[in-house]
Amino acid sequence: MTQTQPDLIEDPIDLALASEHLREIRQSYDSQVIRSYVWARFLIIHVDILELLDRLVPKRGKILDMGCGFGLFSLFLAMRSPERTLHGVDLSEKRIRAARVSAERMHLKNVQFEQADIREYAVSDKWDGVFTLDLLHHVLPQSRREFLSTVKEHLNPEGVLIIKDITTKPWWKMAFTWLLDQAMAGPCHVWYQSVERQTEELESFGFEVRSRSFRDRLPYPHVVFHCRSSKKQ
Ligand SMILES: C[S@@+](CC[C@H](N)C(=O)[O-])C[C@H]1O[C@@H](n2cnc3c(N)ncnc32)[C@H](O)[C@@H]1O
Repeated sequence: MTQTQPDLIEDPIDLALASEHLREIRQSYDSQVIRSYVWARFLIIHVDILELLDRLVPKRGKILDMGCGFGLFSLFLAMRSPERTLHGVDLSEKRIRAARVSAERMHLKNVQFEQADIREYAVSDKWDGVFTLDLLHHVLPQSRREFLSTVKEHLNPEGVLIIKDITTKPWWKMAFTWLLDQAMAGPCHVWYQSVERQTEELESFGFEVRSRSFRDRLPYPHVVFHCRSSKKQ
């Protein structure tokens, strides 16, 4: 009997487990302000995107989370598989401090956090997975290209890069996202790009790229990219 290989990015998503994990993560933060942020973040990053992230990120090995914020997604993926070792990096000292406390409270030994600027971050080692959620539209296009080149160089041959970002269509969803970005990150420049442009850029670094867009309760134009080293090179 022939068995069909699962299509990692396209197959339907099972939502059974996530809510309990999300509640636990939210409650591990002291500050009510951070808890409210986490609540809002898990509302925006809908649970099916989390489930997809868990599916796409290797179940074992070394995983780097660039721009990890309060560490929500590193914590989630660390809970999901003890054979993963997560390393989260963020510019904000305050967010990194909160992420460390949270990991300690949840007794998670397979996750650690570091304060650093990804524009200057000297990635050491090789990684089985690198992911970044809603970070790349916050960095200049030149820094974004440098970042992609560094990641490519530091991925193991079977390693994957997962990017969750937003896209430019429809324009009114992009406008909504712009307002949300200004509200959550303070007045800031953002560089949104179409799915086609992002795909082209990733391919130019030698990645084989698949993407999936998500509808959400909020008008947020989510897109997830699954990138592997191209066999064609
Ligand atoms: C929209 S938040 C996303 C946080 C997290 N990935 C999440 O999905 O909850 C963007 C994060 O990127 C971080 N950030 C922005 N520029 C950065 C840089 N140059 N280096 C490292 N982190 C950066 C911010 O501090 C913030 O935590």
